[in-house]
Amino acid sequence: MGSAELDEFVERVAERTDIYSVVSRYVQLTQKSGRYWGRCPFHNEKTASFSVSADKGLFYCFGCGAGGNVFKFLSLIENITYFEAVKLQAQRLGIDLPAKKSSPEEDRRRREEKTLLKINEFAQDFYHECLIKTARGEVGRKYLTARGITAETIENFKIGYAPEEWENLLPKLTRQGFSPGQLETVGLIAKRKNSPGYYDRFRNRIMIPIADIFGHVVGFGGRVLGSEDDTTPKYLNTPETVLFNKRNLLFGLDKSNRAISTAGAAVVVEGYMDAISLFSAGIKNVVATLGTAFTPEHVKLILRYARKIIFCYDSDEAGQRATIRALPIVQAAGAEVFVITIPDGKDPDEFVRKHGKEEFDALIKNAEPLIDYRMNYVLARADLSMIRGKSQALQEIFPVIEKIDKTSTRNEYLKKIASAFFMDERDVVGAWKKFSSRPAQENTREPAKKFVAKAKTSDKNALRLSTACEDVLRMAWHESDTLGYTLTMVPREFFSEVHREIIAWLETCAEQERRPDKMSAAKELTEAANAELSRILMNGSDSPRNTEVNIFEDSVKILRRAMLNEKYYALLAQAEKYMQSDKATYAKKVEESFKIKKEIDKLQG
Ligand code: CTP
Ligand code: MN
Repeated sequence: MGSAELDEFVERVAERTDIYSVVSRYVQLTQKSGRYWGRCPFHNEKTASFSVSADKGLFYCFGCGAGGNVFKFLSLIENITYFEAVKLQAQRLGIDLPAKKSSPEEDRRRREEKTLLKINEFAQDFYHECLIKTARGEVGRKYLTARGITAETIENFKIGYAPEEWENLLPKLTRQGFSPGQLETVGLIAKRKNSPGYYDRFRNRIMIPIADIFGHVVGFGGRVLGSEDDTTPKYLNTPETVLFNKRNLLFGLDKSNRAISTAGAAVVVEGYMDAISLFSAGIKNVVATLGTAFTPEHVKLILRYARKIIFCYDSDEAGQRATIRALPIVQAAGAEVFVITIPDGKDPDEFVRKHGKEEFDALIKNAEPLIDYRMNYVLARADLSMIRGKSQALQEIFPVIEKIDKTSTRNEYLKKIASAFFMDERDVVGAWKKFSSRPAQENTREPAKKFVAKAKTSDKNALRLSTACEDVLRMAWHESDTLGYTLTMVPREFFSEVHREIIAWLETCAEQERRPDKMSAAKELTEAANAELSRILMNGSDSPRNTEVNIFEDSVKILRRAMLNEKYYALLAQAEKYMQSDKATYAKKVEESFKIKKEIDKLQG
């Protein structure tokens, strides 16, 4: 496209764009003295210094100095180039791109992508026809009918059925002129292991096509008929392909984006079936993740259409954990977050089938704000019978409270907490003050060895950790082969210098197949290490009893948890640094941190 053409295109898009409606998708704006004000999405702030002038078509942040026109805004917030922002906005407005000249390489790639999409479309039609028209599809029809899925829904979502045979789709599609290589690229067939040739990936499954935002079929979810067993997973999905990336896809968004825009909110569910069921019931602003954690990319996709995200995951423990994990991601992206807990029935699908649309609408209406949900989650799991349980619960809730900007709202929550915890309000406020005025560095947590080093302080956590260190070292003294286990659970860097010396010495003894004894310890260890070892041994009995084995296991757990926590906070701190500058690294760090959080949760559980 020539530069005159380009200018003309940009101008056309700009003319039809209203900066207020674009920005308000991402930032909550309120009108004041001829302008709109909100909290800047480009830096962390508590007061609104971000302003939008609708008549001038400009935005400016008095806090961080970010500013420009609507395309600049889009490019910053979507992390795309200026021209990509123009194109994005054109697409939203339904303005066609002027045809552009492209390189032969680009042409080739685009053609190949088109072919791959066409293959998926063929496959979709094949599976769909198979379900609705053939005798083989009867089992599929029966299954869907039993689940209350109507013909209309089957049509709307182009649900299909993959027949039992190993080679069915394969010959059909090769006859259409597609190569096995191409079919493999989109994940529809796979290479045989022990003989040449390929076989259909999906067999005897209900096929749910998954589309990108434009409605192109990019992959499939295949569900077994009936319930899963050990040999067949409930869902078999398209593997990651050039077209199919779960982190960037939300099931249903191609159908629901308009409704999301109109409602100003998206309902996020966990399962294909939940999305299909809600959509058919008339709740059309729904999307589902594809069996993966909610990612920053997912938030971005939704924020293109609405600022409000309502999580409606399964009400079981796994679903609630997934919700808890998703929350910081959406919160970090500046979305307004609510949570629905299904009161009756395991998942949204069951609920809406049992109670209908009106009652689901009521659930949406009464969805809990993020903070309330988070608070109740902690509450439900806290051991409030003990002071320690209470103070632990407070430490979990305070980071959430910290995110509230308005002092009055925050105070209300502190009040709520006090009454929920049966605590004196002044104590809660006192604990909050202490928490909120902690040195910034505490966020990233001091390395635990320092905790251990200052074990003589009254810090309870530190004391617990240092006792745990002593327990595992004492065990290693008595039973040298426990040391290997300890070190796989808790890397040696985690221990203090003196403890590391003791560990190394115990390892040497084991290598030389001699029992460690106090005499050689005195000879071979530094004075500090020897003194510490004596202190540790004095605190236990001469030979480990059963109870000490239990104590040992608990202690390893305590140390591992502390180690993981430290890692977790370090990763979060690292992630935060990348949040603005490098979204990919940011996402990676957040993902890594979630893996760790998962393990922490498991250890806790
Ligand atoms: N999932 C998956 N592989 C599995 C199980 C689940 O990929 N073996 C993904 C699917 O995307 C599924 C989602 O996780 O939709 C949620 O799982 P679940 O709630 O079990 O699925 P539903 O869609 O509710 O399916 P159904 O109601 O048919 O059991
Ligand atoms: Mn379900």
